[in-house]
Amino acid sequence: MRILVVGGGAREHALGWKLLADDPTLDLISAPGNPGLAAMGRCEAIAATDVAGLAALARREDVAFTIVGPEGPLDAGIVDHFRANGLAVFGPSKAAARIETSKRFAKELMLTAGVPTASARTFTSTAAANAEAERLGAPVVIKASGLAAGKGVIVATSIAEARAAIASMLEGNAFGDAGHEVLVEEFMSGEEISLFAITDGTHVLPMIAAQDHKRAGEGDTGPNTGGMGAYAPVSIATGEIAAQAVDRVFLPTLAALRAAGSPFTGLLYAGLMLTRDGPKVVEFNCRFGDPETEALLPLMTSGLLEPLRAVAVGDSIAAAPSIEWRPGAAVTTVVAAEGYPGPVRSGDPITLPPTERDVLVFHAGTWRDAQGRLVTAGGRVFAVTAMGPSLGEARKLSASHAGRIRFAGRQYRRDIGWRELARQPAGA
Ligand code: AMP
Ligand code: GLY
Repeated sequence: MRILVVGGGAREHALGWKLLADDPTLDLISAPGNPGLAAMGRCEAIAATDVAGLAALARREDVAFTIVGPEGPLDAGIVDHFRANGLAVFGPSKAAARIETSKRFAKELMLTAGVPTASARTFTSTAAANAEAERLGAPVVIKASGLAAGKGVIVATSIAEARAAIASMLEGNAFGDAGHEVLVEEFMSGEEISLFAITDGTHVLPMIAAQDHKRAGEGDTGPNTGGMGAYAPVSIATGEIAAQAVDRVFLPTLAALRAAGSPFTGLLYAGLMLTRDGPKVVEFNCRFGDPETEALLPLMTSGLLEPLRAVAVGDSIAAAPSIEWRPGAAVTTVVAAEGYPGPVRSGDPITLPPTERDVLVFHAGTWRDAQGRLVTAGGRVFAVTAMGPSLGEARKLSASHAGRIRFAGRQYRRDIGWRELARQPAGA
C-alpha cells in the first residue's frame, strides 16, 4: 500500500514511523517531509499548504490515502479539495476544522452541545473587552480568536496584564489577523491533559491521555511554546475520567458538528482541564497534537494504519477494536534551537549520538544542506522519545539522549513529566 503524509515535523515523522511499524511493506511518501521521513520513504518538495499540488501528487502516485498532519492545510481546505477529486484523506473538512481554527465557533458549539468548558465572550472592541475582564477579575484568560499556532493565549494574573493583552491583540498586531477578535474567558484551575480520539464523525476510538509541557522553561515557567515535551500515560486521567470525556465531550461535540452540517472525521484532540467539577474543555484541535503524538504512538501495540485508512475512505469504525497499549511509559523531550519560541537561526550543523535501545529520535526542524550535512531548520529541531518500565526511567533516558544531540545553542527541558513523577512514591 502507498500512502502520503502531509507535513514535515516530528509529529509526521512519528506517524510515518508507526505506520511503517504496522506494515513494513508500506510505500511512504511525505510532502514536504524531513530528513527523518526521507530515511523511511520518499519526500516530495511540495509545501503542506499547496493543496492542488498535493492532490496532483496523490493522484499521480495513486496513493491509497493521505494523512494530514498540521492544521494549516486543513484550514486551507485540503480535505474538501481531495474529496471533491475522489481522493481518500484522513482529516476534517475546512468547516469541521473550525473547532480549532475559530475559538468562537468552538465555544458556541460547546454551549449548544452542553459540553463543559469555561464561559467566554467574544469582543472586537477594547473597551468592552476590558470591562468584561474587570467583571470576571484576575486571573482571567485572553485569547486571540483565530489560528495563532497555539500561542495566542494569555493567562493574565492581573487586570493590568489582561488590559495589555487585549490591547496588543486588538490594537497591535501581535497575532496578525488571528488577533482581531478576542475571547475573554473564565479561568479554570486544575491540571491539563490532552486526549485524542480517532473518529468517523459519529464513533470514537479514544487514545490514552498525554500531558504536554507548553512553557519554554523548567518547572513550567517562561513563554508559551508549541510544546517542549510530553509524556504518557497520565495517572490522574483515570478510566472514569476517560469515559466521562467520551460521553460528555467527544460524542456530544461530534453530534453538534453533524447537526451543524460539518461532520468531523479524523483526529479530534481535546485539551481538558481536570477541575474539581470534572473534565472541562480548554480547547479543541483538529489534528494530532505535537509533541504528544511522539509520546503516544510508540506505546500503541495495536495498529494505527487500519483505523486511519477506514476513516480516510469513509468507512464506519463502529466495530473497530479498541486501541491497545503496552505497559510502562514514554517521555518525549523536545530539543529546540537557541531563542525558541522567539526567532531562531537556521543552518547550524547537528551531531547525532548513536541510536539507543528504547529511544526514537523524531526530526522536526532539520534539513540537509547542499553538502548533505544535517543542519537545524526551525525552532523545534527534534523530539526524542524514550520508553521505559516507569516514567522515571523513560524520563532519564529521554533527557540523557537529548543531551547527547549537539548543535550550537541547543536547549531542552530536563524535567518532562515532573508533575507525574511528583505524584509517584519515591523510587518508582
Ligand atoms: P490553549 O492554546 O487554548 O490550549 O491555551 C494555552 C494554555 O493556556 C493552556 O494550555 C492552558 O494552560 C491555558 N488556558 C487556556 N484557557 C484557559 C482557561 N480558561 N483557564 C485556565 N487556563 C487556560
Ligand atoms: N501540543 C499542543 C498542540 O499540538 O497544539
